[in-house]
Amino acid sequence: MNPPVLIPGSFDPIHLGHVDVVDQALELFGAVVVAVLYNREKPSGLFTPDERVALIEASLADRPNVTVRASGGLAVDAATEAGARFVVKGLRTGADFEIEQQMALMNHSVAGVRTVFLPCRPEYAFVSSRFIREIAAHQGRIAHLVPEPVAQALAGRFEGSP
Ligand code: PNS
Repeated sequence: MNPPVLIPGSFDPIHLGHVDVVDQALELFGAVVVAVLYNREKPSGLFTPDERVALIEASLADRPNVTVRASGGLAVDAATEAGARFVVKGLRTGADFEIEQQMALMNHSVAGVRTVFLPCRPEYAFVSSRFIREIAAHQGRIAHLVPEPVAQALAGRFEGSP
């Protein structure tokens, strides 16, 4: 089997735009490591890193050749540890490209790690974890934008909220 590619992110929580990028990467490269990256000094977010890993594993359970891990370090170190050939990032908009290109160039400069950009499917171009969290907190309808395990976890997390 080919070496995997690394898909790093916050994944708080994973949504269908992320799943689309994982599927594209599987088709192109054959194996994927999804890395939940978090800040060791400032742990924050709706779900803990371990909860995010569990949600990703549950959401991608039917896809072989996907492994999931969490790391409090650099994306380039996660790529090396995973034996990954490339980092893969999904792009929604030009604004994504601006920041992602800077990170890609930095990651190449410091560690020689190359990044492959994949455009997301247009139906997910507006989806972000931040908006998913915000809308779910107000009992808004997000179930069509996230995998089923995430929809359940969000419903549980915000049960009884105004
Ligand atoms: O899902 P996000 O929030 O867009 O993911 C951003 C993430 C986690 C991939 C990025 O912040 C990252 O790579 N963090 C790990 C620390 C690191 O490698 N920093 C140097 C970036 S050039």
